[in-house]
Amino acid sequence: MFTAKAITDDDKAGLYQELTAQLAGLLSDERDAIANAANTAALLFNSLPDLNWAGFYFLRSPAELVLGPFQGQPACVRIAIGRGVCGTAVEQRQSMLVADVHAFPDHIACDAASRSELVVPLIRNDRVFGVIDLDSPSVARFDAEDQRGIEAVADIYVKASDDL
Ligand code: SME
Repeated sequence: MFTAKAITDDDKAGLYQELTAQLAGLLSDERDAIANAANTAALLFNSLPDLNWAGFYFLRSPAELVLGPFQGQPACVRIAIGRGVCGTAVEQRQSMLVADVHAFPDHIACDAASRSELVVPLIRNDRVFGVIDLDSPSVARFDAEDQRGIEAVADIYVKASDDL
């Protein structure tokens, strides 16, 4: 049985070092993309403070993302590429750090409690195939260090998992 260790480290670099080590262990014996996404979402949601949503969207066709495993309130199922924070991350092939979702004109509100958001693309062989999305009820919850940390999480997930 795997138990997520509470991460109490005040220093974010230390926090992400611990989180990525836990994740690498958690995914080490399994290659199923859905199972690994489910466990990654659970680990993120239970380890990182001040989140109201953590999960995955996957490109199930060239035109849209479809909801994958997550923790938090039920969420929007389909997001067109280029729409919302998630669809913009796919279109631009880069992470999106949104300090105040109310100031992001095309933000898609799944949970009214969300005030800031971090979206990181999942890339294999130069192709984006999904995103990791984190939402927080606090404005400016995420910074560049969180972005680097979640990009490292995405990298571990991609290398540990087979194609969907
Ligand atoms: N806010 C996202 C939609 C997904 S939910 O946050 C879970 C967006 O604008 O793409």
